[in-house]
Amino acid sequence: MDAIIRPASAIRGTLTLPADKAICHRAALLCALTDGPTELSPWSTAEDCRRTLELVKALGVPVEPIDGGQGSTLSGNERVTAAPHGMRIQGVGLDGLRRPTGPLECGESGTTMRLAAGLLAGQPFESVLNASGSLCRRPMKRIIEPLRQMGARLDGRAQHGDVTPPLTMTGQRPLRALAYTLPVASAQVKSAVLLAALFADAPTTVIEPAVTRDHTERLLTRLGVSLRRQGTAITVEPPARLIAPGRLTIPADPSSAAFFIAAATLVPGSQLRLHHVGLNPTRIPFLHVLKRMGASAEWTAQEEAWEPLGTVTASFTRLRGTTVHADEVPSLIDELPILMVAACLAEGETRFEGLQELKVKETDRLGSMTAGLAALGARIQVEGATVRIRQGALRGAVVESAGDHRTAMSLAVAGLLAEGETRIREVDCVKKSLGEFFGLLASVAGGASVVKIIDKA
Ligand code: S3P
Repeated sequence: MDAIIRPASAIRGTLTLPADKAICHRAALLCALTDGPTELSPWSTAEDCRRTLELVKALGVPVEPIDGGQGSTLSGNERVTAAPHGMRIQGVGLDGLRRPTGPLECGESGTTMRLAAGLLAGQPFESVLNASGSLCRRPMKRIIEPLRQMGARLDGRAQHGDVTPPLTMTGQRPLRALAYTLPVASAQVKSAVLLAALFADAPTTVIEPAVTRDHTERLLTRLGVSLRRQGTAITVEPPARLIAPGRLTIPADPSSAAFFIAAATLVPGSQLRLHHVGLNPTRIPFLHVLKRMGASAEWTAQEEAWEPLGTVTASFTRLRGTTVHADEVPSLIDELPILMVAACLAEGETRFEGLQELKVKETDRLGSMTAGLAALGARIQVEGATVRIRQGALRGAVVESAGDHRTAMSLAVAGLLAEGETRIREVDCVKKSLGEFFGLLASVAGGASVVKIIDKA
């Protein structure tokens, strides 16, 4: 499938996007270990989360879809698109996982593989974690090293100076407690160690070089685990059990919301409202960067919720350039591509520093975004891990998604701002996080004359 995008005259309307992918992965894996049932509502529509759910089922955990996700009503120009259902996970307890009868298929989901490896490190049986597509090339040494230090046996294929999937592993119970300083600021690696820590013989501490999303920590606390944060150190005490919370409301995915918020900020005449957006402070630094660039975006969070959420409104404003410093990158990691699009329209120059982690996402996202934006006429320069973008007009072109969902969605927003027609090749990849993306974009950007999918089959 290719997407054809033409200039939008405005982005207008109200949306509720599907549930947060990062939270759903964690909720499925951790609720599986609790002492009872939990309803997760709504459940994510992302292909990656389907992989985690299948993995949990393959470990003997009963999972079933349920009705009663948050509303699916349509009123006026409001389009509510959250999945109309949730998932019920029947926790089997800390000792209840079953040895899988075959390999565990993670598809292209790095979060599934890295978090599941943490969980499986503490299970005294063998398992194989398989990958497909881009995940076959992604680095796994970052989780293998700490999990080995805790006593798990795991290995993969030596490739590109790292270790790549498939991973074969044999867990152990108890694991050895660890004090581990993460060599890279990564929420996936942090979470893998925190999951393994549940099965350790004493408290385990993870030290982060920079703050990353804290969904695992919040959920562990919600399930009754004793977890302390002191500065950059997080310590988990191995629990006797995890208490099923019964029901958890999952906010809409802020990283998906970022594309729509940026589109409304950049297209003249726009005004957009997004409901139920996850507003966890570790996930919204992109809103702060947009504000720093002069954006008109407002949000109010219901802080009392286990994961803060609320309504975001965004409308068109002219932006000015900024510098995104290396220490901000870990908490902006998934929104950097769309911020690069915003930078093309911002007055003066925008600088992004310390982008090396972008090179090991679904693709080399630094390469795919630079190539795509340059093809659209952006004034973009890369020097090592620094990108400089100067304001300039975009013009339509044929660009490649490179099989990367966030590159495809970012270039689609760029297409709304470019003169003439933009064709983005191979956009099926958006289903990894938001298969509904092009339909939703069309619904707020002026319909099929602005956003159209061409099925080449
Ligand atoms: C994620 C963490 C980030 C992010 C990914 C999801 C998570 O990866 O890019 O989309 O859910 O923990 P890293 O931990 O590799 O930075």
